[in-house]
Amino acid sequence: MRWGLIGASTIASEHMIGAIRAAGGEVASVLSSSTDRAESYAAEHDIPVGVSDLDALLDGDIDAVYISTTNEKHFAQAMAAIAAGKHVLCEKPLAMTVADAAAMVRAAADAGLTFGTNHHLRNAGSHLAMRDLVQSGRIGDVLSVRVFHAVYLPLHLQGWRIDNPEAGGGVIPDIAVHDADTVRFHLGEDPAEVVAMQTASGLGQGVEDSVMSVWAMPSGVQVLTHESFTHRFTSSGFEVHGTKGSIVAKNVMTQRPVGEITLRTEAGEEDIPFETHNLYARSLGLFHDAANGKGRPSADGVDGVKSLAVAAAVAKAAKSGQRTSVDYAGV
Ligand SMILES: NC(=O)c1ccc[n+]([C@@H]2O[C@H](COP(=O)([O-])OP(=O)(O)OC[C@H]3O[C@@H](n4cnc5c(N)ncnc54)[C@H](OP(=O)(O)O)[C@@H]3O)[C@@H](O)[C@H]2O)c1
Repeated sequence: MRWGLIGASTIASEHMIGAIRAAGGEVASVLSSSTDRAESYAAEHDIPVGVSDLDALLDGDIDAVYISTTNEKHFAQAMAAIAAGKHVLCEKPLAMTVADAAAMVRAAADAGLTFGTNHHLRNAGSHLAMRDLVQSGRIGDVLSVRVFHAVYLPLHLQGWRIDNPEAGGGVIPDIAVHDADTVRFHLGEDPAEVVAMQTASGLGQGVEDSVMSVWAMPSGVQVLTHESFTHRFTSSGFEVHGTKGSIVAKNVMTQRPVGEITLRTEAGEEDIPFETHNLYARSLGLFHDAANGKGRPSADGVDGVKSLAVAAAVAKAAKSGQRTSVDYAGV
């Protein structure tokens, strides 16, 4: 599969170019808003073509695009790619509004194109192993989930994320959206209502840099989440508590295949082993298969709409102080 990169981004250079190549794909071209940057990025990453015109990229010999521009650009770029008949793997959050995200996903479905959302965590061996534990009944009926995703935003990412709401900055679109996808992945149901409080506690200028929220699942399971850009000394975690056991995982809300999982039951504590493959390469492999008619992307378009819908509800609840229903825009 031949890929065009829409966005000369950090995530593409740090993870996705390597993942595309590891999964047997070819990176054919890259788009930047600046011609100089398109050319220098292309040269640095051994990409044959660097352009600053989207139509030129879409006219090229490519099968799929990977969109990793800032968030406000995703919608128009995805719609143009779909109109040009390209499969789309889009970064989260898919768009600035749930309605736009749903429109992108419907357009791809109507055109018979594969659409994926780059939610990496559900590709982690750690999360796959935890989901197996939950779904095989090892912890009985699930009572609650706790998500610990307060991190320190690396210096080189402290740009639009911390000061530009128009570009989709803020910790809710950046991290809560991933947690929404991960919780849905584990529980197989969609949050119904949320309450939340947010703050800007040092980094955020005009956007929130920290949020805590509680989500009500239709089954009655309660979910507690904490996302932040400002915590230097904590580590991430994901816990699922059930009537017969608890899963306590440390350092698993990360881009790397690391962490520890402990299962606690009446029998005592057990370390749970898991695969340590590259998260993004697995996602790319599943996307290639799906575009070739086999299976589905790891996280598809509907998953991307739903994770954004939860994040949008968290943002609305945090601003209003009200318990807020999640609006999935009919997907
Ligand atoms: N799924 C994940 O694990 C994950 C992880 C990180 C980010 N993301 C998502 O990916 C998207 C991009 O995030 P990112 O962290 O990669 O953002 P980023 O590096 O800031 O890139 C975003 C845009 O900023 C411009 N840019 C980047 N570096 C630049 C530089 N040195 N000089 C001038 N312009 C520069 C580029 O514009 P041009 O293209 O116009 O040159 C690029 O498209 C966002 O939607 C984010 O939410 C997802």
